[in-house]
Amino acid sequence: MESNYLRAVLAQWASGVVVVTTVRADGGRHGMTASSFTGVALDPPLISVCLVSTSTTCRMIRGSGVFAANVLGHDQQNIGRRFASPVWNAATDRFAAGQWDTASTGAAVLTDAVAWLDCVLTACHPAGDHTIIVGAVQDAATPRPIAPLIYHDRTYHEGIVR
Ligand SMILES: Cc1cc2nc3c(=O)[nH]c(=O)nc-3n(C[C@H](O)[C@H](O)[C@H](O)COP(=O)(O)O)c2cc1C
Repeated sequence: MESNYLRAVLAQWASGVVVVTTVRADGGRHGMTASSFTGVALDPPLISVCLVSTSTTCRMIRGSGVFAANVLGHDQQNIGRRFASPVWNAATDRFAAGQWDTASTGAAVLTDAVAWLDCVLTACHPAGDHTIIVGAVQDAATPRPIAPLIYHDRTYHEGIVR
């Protein structure tokens, strides 16, 4: 199947939006926007994200062995856009938007996220040009349980009323 066609079909699936963060080799932080977040298991507590294997974030999660998933609120579109745009040079700081804290694994968590989950990497499953990243949840919180940001048909929507 032609990949642009498949992309258009898959765009009909509505999802929430997370920013996946991890720790760089130099101790700094990195992160990207993702819609492929899924709860996997309750016992033990596991979640997954599915990332392009060539993305910087995927490579860095493999290196650090930790990541966090930050669920964005309906009013955090700017953060979703920022973490999806290419990092052109070292001076570009995606974390310049939002207030960030450091969770127990060392991954960055958004202090006013709808929810966040702090994880230790347990598995990387190759899946075509993507990698399914599975993490064991070490800590989680719901700092601001408001309506989430929704992504559908390549457009951000302000979410369900809460
Ligand atoms: C709403 C939205 C959802 C996205 N979801 C994913 C995803 O689930 N997996 C993925 O690999 N890229 C996804 N992307 C694309 C990445 O955010 C984008 O390629 C980013 O620049 C990668 O950053 P990095 O190379 O610094 O890791 C998404 C982009 C947007 C706007």
